[in-house]
Amino acid sequence: MKVLYSSGEITRRVKELGERITEEYQGKELFIVGILKGGFMFVSDLVRNVNLPARIEFVRLSSYGNSDSPEGDVKLVDDLKDAVQGKHVLIVDDIMDTGQSLIFFKQHLEKKGPASVKICTMIDKTCRRKEPIEPDYYGFRITDGFIVGYGLDYAEDYRTLPDICVLERT
Ligand code: IMP
Ligand code: MG
Repeated sequence: MKVLYSSGEITRRVKELGERITEEYQGKELFIVGILKGGFMFVSDLVRNVNLPARIEFVRLSSYGNSDSPEGDVKLVDDLKDAVQGKHVLIVDDIMDTGQSLIFFKQHLEKKGPASVKICTMIDKTCRRKEPIEPDYYGFRITDGFIVGYGLDYAEDYRTLPDICVLERT
């Protein structure tokens, strides 16, 4: 496995993202929605770099089974309990790939009457995008390849690695 972004690079980039979000939402309260499981590590680092009043919730989406290829529709396994009406919602996830999961979830939230909805992903992976959607904020952009670590898994392995690595399959 080859390190693509080391934990040091990730730390620096997440700090920059947090500062930018802090500036752009000045005077507002954020309603952060983390996507489980992949977003768990990024969410916990990002929120410590956002200097704003904020609430945090988590939802669980499932789209891929235990493999690296898409497998049917996106499902909302665990929906929000708190109302998002009138809130500035920031969805935080590990990666945007085809865009199917996040377009599904963004549209789902928009029906609940939030003041705004934006998306922040650690990785923007562009070459397989199928939906007309982009992250409003992203840490790093890659075109292709399968990566693991920093929340990203392959069949539930490697999520806990501190670096983002390219999985080289034999
Ligand atoms: P979507 O294709 O944008 O809907 O992304 C669905 C999910 O696929 C993401 O939330 C990740 O869990 C997973 N995924 C996509 N690309 C990768 C990757 O390179 N490594 C690990 N998981 C990935
Ligand atoms: Mg995910």
